[in-house]
Amino acid sequence: MNEIIGQDNTALSQTPQEIREAQEDYGSNCSANPTMGDIIHRRFSRRGFLGGSLAVAAIASTVSPLALGAASEAQAASPSFNFDEVEAGVDETHHVARGYDADILLRWGDKLFADSPEFDPMAQTAATQLRQFGYNNDYVGFVPLDGAADHGLLVVNHEYTNAELMFPNFAKVGKQMVDGKEEDAVIMGEFTKELVDIEMAAHGGTVVEIRKVDGKWRPVLDGKYNRRITAMTEMSISGPAAGHDRLKTKDDPTGTRVFGTINNCAGGVTPWGTWLMAEENINGYFGGEMPESHPEHAAFKRYGIPGDNYKWHAFYDRFDVSKEPNEANRFGWVVEVDPMDPTSTPVKHTALGRFKHEGCESIVNKDGRVVVYCGDDERFDYVYKFVTAGKFNPDDRAANMKLLDEGTLYVAKFHEDGVVEWLPLIHGQGPLTEANGFRSQADVVINARLAGDALGATKMDRPEDVQPNPKTGKVYCMLTNNSKRKDEQVDAANPRGKNKFGHIIEITETDGDFASTKSTWEVLLKCGDPSVADVGASFSTATTANGWFGMPDNCAIDVDGRLWVATDGNNKKDTGRTDGVWAVETEGPMRGTSKLFFRVPVGAEMCGPCFNPTSDTFFVAVQHPGDAGLPTFETPATRWPDFKDGMPPRPSVVAITKQGGGKIA
Ligand code: FEO
Ligand code: CA
Ligand code: CA
Ligand code: CA
Repeated sequence: MNEIIGQDNTALSQTPQEIREAQEDYGSNCSANPTMGDIIHRRFSRRGFLGGSLAVAAIASTVSPLALGAASEAQAASPSFNFDEVEAGVDETHHVARGYDADILLRWGDKLFADSPEFDPMAQTAATQLRQFGYNNDYVGFVPLDGAADHGLLVVNHEYTNAELMFPNFAKVGKQMVDGKEEDAVIMGEFTKELVDIEMAAHGGTVVEIRKVDGKWRPVLDGKYNRRITAMTEMSISGPAAGHDRLKTKDDPTGTRVFGTINNCAGGVTPWGTWLMAEENINGYFGGEMPESHPEHAAFKRYGIPGDNYKWHAFYDRFDVSKEPNEANRFGWVVEVDPMDPTSTPVKHTALGRFKHEGCESIVNKDGRVVVYCGDDERFDYVYKFVTAGKFNPDDRAANMKLLDEGTLYVAKFHEDGVVEWLPLIHGQGPLTEANGFRSQADVVINARLAGDALGATKMDRPEDVQPNPKTGKVYCMLTNNSKRKDEQVDAANPRGKNKFGHIIEITETDGDFASTKSTWEVLLKCGDPSVADVGASFSTATTANGWFGMPDNCAIDVDGRLWVATDGNNKKDTGRTDGVWAVETEGPMRGTSKLFFRVPVGAEMCGPCFNPTSDTFFVAVQHPGDAGLPTFETPATRWPDFKDGMPPRPSVVAITKQGGGKIA
């Protein structure tokens, strides 16, 4: 998710979480890229009448004879998931399928080092936070140590901070005017440099050694790899934009060094065991005025900069665009971290383009090149993939760590005939010329969104995780929702107007070639409640009332190639359920059937999902628990996971294992 806007000292016209939702749902794509009209039915008919296994009771909501046929086929078929489904609902704690344990592994404020202080929410400082697990865990990755499945490094992004839930005596429930009516609202307190420094220290990521002992995972305190990365950690910049004038600042006249990474949403672990942290809603951290006459003005507008959601710019000039405009060009990248070397300098890879990266999941292609998939999570923005120039060498890790410096970035154009074309973002090709404002490849990657606009990429319903499946050669693209898409703007790949519940697209790369520039696609699922005809959801009718979900966000593929989907936003949309992880059948007659495996406490979002290499552990991240209603430090919607008076809710990573051992589900 997202980002906090409205963290100023004035009364908000919306609650902090409404503002975050609105901000994440921000749309700044004013390009004239065409939509294709109401042609989704043609895509479905093609699948129904030409497609082999007919899969998907993809049309279940219309309850046609065709769908009924698919449904009985689905009910007769054997599922690939055999856990007892969790009952959907909303309450103060988490729930996992019967027969599984869901153990809290790491909470915000937990010690990471032998000298870490105990967490004391009443006495937070930046110094203590720097030695503790950060806030709002999002992406979770597992890097085995010595090839083990029960001992490794957990790498975790800390996406953003909820000041209203973190800081005592800070936010208050008060009154404010909304549309001429006085309403209760959360009113933020006054930010000080001290609070901003805690926020900066709570961002970034954590590397922590973990080990399974007697069937339970434990962090290894003071493990030699343990590390906190924050909004202050020094990083280098590589790739085509490194050293470019647009990246130079007063602090860094070379344009190659930058302090910190922010709003790291999802990410990935590379085939060579490094951690990719994706910078998402970076715009919110910049404040100040950007004059219209400034050469960056138009590009900044396309990126929503300045978003002015945090108060960092009041204390750090680099976050004030009127004082240091180029600083904003130094965020919005994919950051590579070597978790095996806690002294290593993280690298911002500009070759992968600058946008609101949700994640960056990679795979070794059959020709040895590495392909990285990325979504730009904003409504009407794009899906990308990056193909390295060089090849993965299993025997040369140092060389692999240069692979993301050079390659081709592509943006997706989804055609209504079921073809997806990957259009290269290469300076000098097509419209990406000086005449159109692209003077070099640096301009192309810094303004990747504008390059996508120029190429006519397909405007999507907020692309989140894009996940290749190494078992099947397919790629799953989560599109979380886009309530602003008008009915006349629907197209084949974004088939619903006012798309409240999102959908999932399945891409089949041609001949299993992930570097292919022409592939095929279809809609795997249209999400939402299939019992409400107007929603137009397409879960198979074998899906129970607990089994459907809305707002797919992140996903993971287990060791058997099965798809697991984590959601963001079910809490807020009257679905009668919190977010959670659902197991989704993608193959055979059960395709399109979904089952609830785990759900989060009230107010939380489900992040992270990550399996260890043997899939006998499923790590999930519970983000912003208690963020519902009118939440403040004093009045959270839950005090999960500690449930102690005075202890705020704590975002936490949870390790799920099967009682008695064995693979998940
Ligand atoms: Fe950080 Fe796109 O959710
Ligand atoms: Ca999310
Ligand atoms: Ca999201
Ligand atoms: Ca993922």
